Amino acid sequence: MSTNSSVGYNEEYARSVAETEKYWQEAGKRIDWIRPYSKADGSSYAGNVQIKWYEDGTLNVANNCVDRHARVRPDAPAIIWVADSEGESLVISYEDLRKNVNRFANVLRMQGVKKGDRVTLYMPMIPKAAYAMLACARIGAVHSVVFAGFSAESLANRIVDAESHFIITADEGRRGGKRIPLKETVDEALRIARMDAKVLVVKHTGGDVSFSERRDVWLHDVWGTVGTECESEEMSAEDPFFILYTSGSTGKPKGLVHTTGGYLVYASMTHERIFAYQPGEVYWCTADIGWITGHSYLVYGPLANGATTLMFEGVPNQPTPKRIWDIVDEWNVSVLYTAPTLIRSLMAAGDRWLEGTSRKSLRMLGTVGEPINPEAWRWYYEKVGDSRCPIADTWWQTETGGVLITPLPDTAPLKPGAAMKPFFGIIPDIVDENGESVPQGTQGRLLIRRSWPGQARTIHGDHARFMETYFSAVPGAYLTGDGAHRDVDGDYWIIGRVDDVVNVSGHRFGTAEIESALVAHPAVAEAAVIGVPHPIKGQSLFCFVILRDGYQDDEGLIAQLKQQVRADIGAIAVPDDVVCVPGLPKTRSGKIMRRILRKLVAREDDLGDVSTLVDPRIIEEIKTALSLNRQV
Ligand code: WT7
Repeated sequence: MSTNSSVGYNEEYARSVAETEKYWQEAGKRIDWIRPYSKADGSSYAGNVQIKWYEDGTLNVANNCVDRHARVRPDAPAIIWVADSEGESLVISYEDLRKNVNRFANVLRMQGVKKGDRVTLYMPMIPKAAYAMLACARIGAVHSVVFAGFSAESLANRIVDAESHFIITADEGRRGGKRIPLKETVDEALRIARMDAKVLVVKHTGGDVSFSERRDVWLHDVWGTVGTECESEEMSAEDPFFILYTSGSTGKPKGLVHTTGGYLVYASMTHERIFAYQPGEVYWCTADIGWITGHSYLVYGPLANGATTLMFEGVPNQPTPKRIWDIVDEWNVSVLYTAPTLIRSLMAAGDRWLEGTSRKSLRMLGTVGEPINPEAWRWYYEKVGDSRCPIADTWWQTETGGVLITPLPDTAPLKPGAAMKPFFGIIPDIVDENGESVPQGTQGRLLIRRSWPGQARTIHGDHARFMETYFSAVPGAYLTGDGAHRDVDGDYWIIGRVDDVVNVSGHRFGTAEIESALVAHPAVAEAAVIGVPHPIKGQSLFCFVILRDGYQDDEGLIAQLKQQVRADIGAIAVPDDVVCVPGLPKTRSGKIMRRILRKLVAREDDLGDVSTLVDPRIIEEIKTALSLNRQV
């Protein structure tokens, strides 16, 4: 793998950035429009930041993801659902999908949901979750899917922020043999939110849940009362399609708004081009529908392409690390798209779990969510793919809607740990603190110079925050929040976040968010949170807290503080370490120097410049506290 064979890519990339408008006008034809567009790019990063694509075109996402395939290949499998419990599965054809989505859409209409209404989904990974998403798309309702691992408090915040009066949930979910209370959490969230809402409940496990005759509706009670035909709403390309919440470096999670036309063009095109998807292949993305990966590369991209998408309810390494390979073999999976954290945990479990599995069906592998360390990359390449399958290390974000930097099928040589090439039409750059482009090999802040169809349009209800967060640091460019460098071949390497966002197992948390969860506890006067390297999770959360007078630093209190974060945000955000300290390293202006905290946790001797510290003695006190920390 030493010659550069990316001629096809180079030529097409050059064309895509030289004649962008023409390129995207052409690309837009991959989906069916009701009224064709006359123009592709209507975006401007200047002034008020307006992002618009295919603006005068109209379409319906469900028609594109379901009906147009059901018409020509009604029996082709659309979704292969694999249950948490082994041996249980379901194959849903495009015609089955069409009927189910239409019924679901009719139910929503019957319940009074209208175009533009925000519908919150708090769902397990079951086909009805996909039906619900597509049903919203069919009637033009804006879905806001909340990952079912978030707490009632987080769910409440998202329901309130989205002004959502309609919730879809299930009695319970199932993961790794455990039952996840969903309806109960929704009940609690609505108590916290004090919002008047209707709740549509899917019976999944049959578990015993409370039911309010006034507010709740069982899906099975209304399912039979509606038909399988449902007229779809003609949507403008720029009508909001969905809201998805993600954490930033400051404040509460932001509801990124994606719109209808450009998003679908971009999700479907990247899915097809990056994975070289061939009709008839089984494609498996392990992401949950609660994240953008689940939206773009489990549901919308693959289905828009008429693909067979595998949806797994459980945890890929449970009950044993062999489960994932058994599923690959049983369903002849051609493309596997997953997260580095899972690869690292499978690698740590040992190669013996691969023994006796074939994996011959695999043609291509993908990773997403966090940087992949070269060791894990090689294991994935050599052991899982038997050195046959290229790996697409895809870099992107909730905000980008689809992949922006990735190898393409003709990219060679692949470099373990590099995200490699910009996708067609994408113009990345790396700049220093002053916004000046840096030379090759120098690390800097990654930004994107021009819009693309899949880009988020705004933050729900707060366009000023959208402009401030992404477009103010370097005028005229989209700031990603990641650090990166470009090597001598012009290939991109992503370092990770350079803002106060921590990536734990591919999940984003703002340090400020965790800090406010901690200070909400009566014992905590002040908190500072950092991300520290973790062998499996990539990063873990390390918290420093200053206790109020009268509180004792003991195991019980530490457990309470962790529980506080669990209740406030969710189990996925529980910190690995909480350490009580007498003070925090601060500058004269009161800013916490997280850089010093990171070095102290890493036991580095050279702390760098500490001359701006108000009280340098605090360093020794923190060192002492760390040496007593037994949590690691
Ligand atoms: C952040 C975005 C994109 C879907 C899943 C995460 C990190 C993502 C990579 C990669 C290095 C990556 C970045 C980014 N990230 N993919 N291939 N290599 N880092 O979406 O929750 O919006 O998080 O994930 O730091 O900013 P998200």
